[in-house]
Formats: sequence, structure tokens, C-alpha cells
Amino acid sequence: MLEHEVALDDEQVVSRRQRAALFAAFLLEHFGSAALSSGTGVLDVAGGRGELAFELQCVRRVPCTLIEPRPMKLDRRQAAMLRKRPELVPPPQIQALFDDALCRAPEHAALIAGASIVVAMHPDQATEPAVDVALRCGKPFAVVPCCVFSRQFPERRLDGQPVSSYEHFVEYLRRKHPRSQVAYLPFQGKNCVVYVPADLDLETATTMATTPTTPTTLAATVTPELNE
Ligand SMILES: C[S@@+](CC[C@H](N)C(=O)[O-])C[C@H]1O[C@@H](n2cnc3c(N)ncnc32)[C@H](O)[C@@H]1O
Repeated sequence: MLEHEVALDDEQVVSRRQRAALFAAFLLEHFGSAALSSGTGVLDVAGGRGELAFELQCVRRVPCTLIEPRPMKLDRRQAAMLRKRPELVPPPQIQALFDDALCRAPEHAALIAGASIVVAMHPDQATEPAVDVALRCGKPFAVVPCCVFSRQFPERRLDGQPVSSYEHFVEYLRRKHPRSQVAYLPFQGKNCVVYVPADLDLETATTMATTPTTPTTLAATVTPELNE
């Protein structure tokens, strides 16, 4: 069994769609629709089938780009919504890993530089890169960590100790910016959001997010236009 499957056991009571809707509501409440919609909109890192990206773009009308190596997969409800409302455009996807290579690729520079925020729900190995890239680019972030992957990232330290538990990982992420905060989404399981409030001057953060992301090979890349 994979590490994240163990971590997600408690969450069977809430569907992925409900979790995405609750996280979208959190983002709207804490950052506001106008701020989220600014520039090229929200970057949803490791968004899986695209529930959160769809919720933001099609339900909440906040432009959002999904960055996820697996293809986006609409469920029946989402497909029906698009059939009924042809003005809605599904979120564009960059079908690739979110890593240094992607962030440095010239074809993605405008999208990343223009993003309003980097968000991620249970993003597995992309959790720390999502935070680091946001801070490096002076952007707010909101991530809901799930798995620690301590063996894959043995270099992480919290007070000199390896980061090996979920609680330590949350604290490790929180300490990446002095004014980052922790909140809890209303579902059971890994529901802790680490985020920086939208009104922060993130200039000071650029020197703090220094951990390099793991270099990986880019998968096929698609960059459709944002719809708004
Ligand atoms: C546990 S799933 C969660 C998916 C979705 N966010 C959700 O909450 O249902 C983790 C996802 O992270 C993606 N992933 C892992 N590493 C990634 C990376 N470096 N960049 C982008 N996606 C990544 C995987 O492909 C997988 O879809």
C-alpha cells in the first residue's frame, strides 16, 4: 500500500469532490475572489483528477490552472454541468510534474509569474515545491499536506531532527514564512491548511524558501488559454 493511501484512510467519509469544495470555500473566504482571479489566476499543484481546479474555475468562476502529471478526469456531474452551460470552460492543465524544470521552462514563465496564488490539496511529493516556488516568486500559498515521504526527503530538519511525522511536516512547512498560519478544513483526516494571508508583503520570503525541488523529467506539456 502506498504511503498516501494509509494517510487518506480517515477521509473516506468525505468525497474528493467535497474536500475540493471545502478547500475552494476556504480560499474564497481567506483570499477573496478578486485577488484569486488576478493575473493568470490560481495554480493548483498536484490536483489529481482536477476536482479543486474545476470547482474554482467552473463553479466559483476563479481562473485556475491544474498542474498534474495525470490527465484531468471530469466526473459525470462535471461533464453534465459543461454540457448544460457551454459558456463554462474546464480548467487548463499542464500535464507534468511541478518541479524546478517546469518552473524554469520559458513557456510557463508568464503563467507562473502571473499567478495569484499556489494551492495544493494532498499534493504528495509536490507539497514542499509548491510552498517553495510560491515564496520564491513572492506569492501567497495554501497547501493541505498529506504524506511526509520522510525516506524520500531525509534532508528535511525541524529543530535539528529529521521531519518524520505529519505534525512535524506541518510545522516544517509553517516555518518557511514567519507569518504563515495553520487552519483546519471541516472534514476528517488530513485537513490542516498551511497558508500565508493574502495581505502579506512576501518580499522577505524569497531568501527563506531555499530548499531546491527535486529535478525530474518533464512529461508532455499542454498550456491551453485561460478562459477569462
Ligand atoms: C494523493 S493525490 C491527491 C490528488 C488531489 N489533489 C486530491 O486531493 O484528490 C496526489 C497527487 O499528486 C500528484 N503529484 C505527485 N508529485 C507531483 C509533482 N511533483 N507535481 C505535480 N503533481 C504531483 C500525483 O500525480 C497525484 O495525483
